[in-house]
Order: sequence, then structure tokens, then C-alpha cells
Amino acid sequence: MQSTPREIDANTPSPARLYDYMLGGTDNYEVDRQIADQLLKIAPELRELSLDNRSFLTDAVEYCARQGIRQFLDIGSGLPTQKNVHEAAQSVAPDSRTVYVDNDPSVLPHAQTLIQGDPQTVYIEADARDYPAVLRHPETARMLDFTKPVAVLLVAVVHFIDDSDDPYGVVAGYADQLCPGSYVILAHVTSDDIDPELGERMFGLNSQLRVPLTYRTKDEVTRFFDGLELVGPGVIGLGRWSPDGEVDGPKRKLNSWCGVARKV
Ligand SMILES: C[S@@+](CC[C@H](N)C(=O)[O-])C[C@H]1O[C@@H](n2cnc3c(N)ncnc32)[C@H](O)[C@@H]1O
Repeated sequence: MQSTPREIDANTPSPARLYDYMLGGTDNYEVDRQIADQLLKIAPELRELSLDNRSFLTDAVEYCARQGIRQFLDIGSGLPTQKNVHEAAQSVAPDSRTVYVDNDPSVLPHAQTLIQGDPQTVYIEADARDYPAVLRHPETARMLDFTKPVAVLLVAVVHFIDDSDDPYGVVAGYADQLCPGSYVILAHVTSDDIDPELGERMFGLNSQLRVPLTYRTKDEVTRFFDGLELVGPGVIGLGRWSPDGEVDGPKRKLNSWCGVARKV
């Protein structure tokens, strides 16, 4: 397992800042914009995919809040953007509490500014792979009561966990902590149906990222929900998820699988 970096590295593209750029944000550096522009040249739909990923995240949070969830653990939260988890949750249930977790030091100052003055929301810098440290962190323990339902978000983060770091054990580590009535919300890039030429160019850029992506198939992504009950349309392409079932969405050369599951 790589150690958690503590200093902002302005010379290597960061997943958090790259994604911020894709979403139209300004909290990114030249090094991020350069690789993002290369990626967008190869796959222009990456921008729309990022926006759909964000819509899925907020739709799923609002759905969970409507089901009575009042506690949210957002792993790999990223840089604050237009509608953040605590804002989506509190728009449905103002008493919702949120713990944000990320290991990119670029996120910390922005997250602190965003949540300033909100006693129901905290940010911790931790490595998602070290789930015991996240779950036992004093701020997690102070904010979240795991004897009551919690929604754990693992949106666009598990693909940064290499097979050698046991991604299934990590996701199960969070899911095992949850009581019945809790939810897991997950989205993950895939190479299923990818155009071979596009795939080759995308995979070629992987080595330039600080943390390379692992593309997984639908079966492999579905396995992350083992032992849980999928709601809505099950595991489905981004842009097609709704709590009531599949909705019409774009067919893309490049996509992510997403899903929401309940612990029973
Ligand atoms: C593509 S962004 C997704 C942000 C947000 N979850 C969303 O879907 O809108 C991925 C985030 O995961 C974070 N990340 C990647 N690997 C991580 C790890 N091992 N521990 C904690 N955060 C991680 C990155 O720093 C980045 O902020």
C-alpha cells in the first residue's frame, strides 16, 4: 500500500484536481489541465461522464435521505464542487451528518473552507484503503453512530484501488460495519464495450497519473455489492440510474457502472 501523501504535489496530476477540471472547477494546476485536455481530446465524453457521475452521487444521496438516512460517510470525496454530499443530504433532511474522507492534501484547505461553521459536517484526511483507520478515526466516531443506518459513498474512488490492495476486502470492510437499513453507493469506471483504439490510448495515459485507474467489468463491479440488496435498476451505466429503475441515457464509448444497495 502506498503511504498517504501529506504535501500538495503541484507537479503530478492529481485525481481530485483532474476531476475538478472535468467538472468545470478552477481548483486545479497546469499539470492537471494538461493531462485532462489530452484525455478530453481522446475521449470528449469524459466531461459529460464526470457530470453524470456527480448527478448520480447527488441523486443517490437524496434518495437515501428520503429513505430516512441521516448519516453519510463519503470516501474519496474529492474537491468541493457545486452540490456536495452534505448539501444534498441536508436539502432533504437538515439534520443529516456527513464525514468526508480523502487522501489528497489538495482537498483539505478547500474542504475546511466549505464546511466551516457547519457542526454536522467534518473532513478527515485518510486513506480509503485503511478502512479500520477511517472507521475508528475520532471524528468518524464522534459524528456517526453505526448502530443506526449510514450511507457509505464509494463513488469514483474504488477504481483507484489496485487489485494488490484488496479492493473487495476494503469495500467489505466498510459494508461489514453497517447495520441493516444502511446503504452503499458506488460508481466505477469500466472498459466493457470500450472501443479498442480508444482503450489503448486511455490505458496509455494511465502511467502519467499519480494513481492509475483500474478498469473493471460489470461482473467485477457487481461483486462489490455482494451480500447487499441492489435497489432501483441494479448495476447500470452512469446516466441511467434512478431509484425507480432504468432511465434513458446516453450510449458511450467509455462508461462507468454505478449502483446503490441496501444492507438487509
Ligand atoms: C474522481 S474523484 C471522485 C470524487 C467524488 N467521490 C465524486 O464521485 O464526485 C476521486 C477522489 O478519490 C480520491 N482518492 C483516490 N484514492 C484514494 C484513497 N486511497 N484514499 C482516499 N481518497 C482517495 C482522490 O483524491 C479524489 O479526490
